[in-house]
Amino acid sequence: MKERLEALKAEALQELAQVTNQQQLNDMRVKYLGKKGPLTEVLRGMGALSAEERPVIGQVANDVRGAIEAVIESKQAEYLQAETEARLRAETIDVTLPGRPAGLGAVHPISKVIQQIEDIFVGMGYTVAEGPEVEQDYYNFEALNLPKNHPARDMQDSFYVTEDILLRTHTSPVQVRTMEKMKGEVPVKIICPGRVYRRDDDDATHSHMFTQIEGLVIDRNIRMSDLKGTLLQFVQELFGKQTQIRMRPSFFPFTEPSAEVDVTCAMCGGAGCRVCKQTGWLEILGSGMVHPRVLEMAGYDPEEYSGFAFGMGVERIAMLKYDVEDIRHFYTNDLRFLKQFVHL
Ligand code: PHE
Repeated sequence: MKERLEALKAEALQELAQVTNQQQLNDMRVKYLGKKGPLTEVLRGMGALSAEERPVIGQVANDVRGAIEAVIESKQAEYLQAETEARLRAETIDVTLPGRPAGLGAVHPISKVIQQIEDIFVGMGYTVAEGPEVEQDYYNFEALNLPKNHPARDMQDSFYVTEDILLRTHTSPVQVRTMEKMKGEVPVKIICPGRVYRRDDDDATHSHMFTQIEGLVIDRNIRMSDLKGTLLQFVQELFGKQTQIRMRPSFFPFTEPSAEVDVTCAMCGGAGCRVCKQTGWLEILGSGMVHPRVLEMAGYDPEEYSGFAFGMGVERIAMLKYDVEDIRHFYTNDLRFLKQFVHL
């Protein structure tokens, strides 16, 4: 029996030496150490042995089992190691590969123009105010000297939410809100950028939603010449030193007198071209001296205080400054259009 065991060991070790992969190793384990393997069979036959022989053979059988197990274990460890290495190799990240660039967004051209205009006015001592886009009729019209049924309300066809609430048609309500907040204090010196809404049919120069920047100054002794000087300074910083302005009499219920302001056409320098329709001038904003009734309603005594206000369309200014022929380009978000403004 001892010889059989030794032969079994020799055979197993020889066969194991030929093993080259995990599958074969598994087969070997079953074949030699499994329940139906020769070793188990020998051990099962031990009952027939004498009491003296039994421990001796038992010892040999254990040694044989141990030797076979040792070889299997070491092979197993080898395969495990090889497998781990292969996995690591497959999963290695090449940190020297160039990265995939993340697409960076950029500031929208309208936002950029707002920033430029804000910078100019902040440089003149203005602060930036804001107000709600969903506005009360009182602030949008009533407190701006536009009572109900006033014909001038038709100048600005409105989106109503309820009878008393609408999408603001201009940024002028922020004039009133600012004066209320200031409670009669001076100086008031603000600009207010924001979106406004009108029931217009969209075309190359009209949009039902666009952006305005409002300006308001209130103090003692504010005159029309202050308005003119301020606007001249502003347009020269925005469009260039050579730019001139002219003021044309106009009408707004909340300013008196009122003026529309034109700048010399930057395309032709005032000579007349397609953009300025041969006039040499381009209209860019509405303005005027704050109407006494508006001052009064907001808590400022018109005998003591005066002020000027102006309102401009940002898209129109951006179109003139960057020669954009259709206002809808600003809203359709075509990257080919927007990317042209990245480095402004
Ligand atoms: N709110 C006027 C408009 O939208 C512009 C304006 C503002 C005129 C301030 C005068 C003073 O047309």
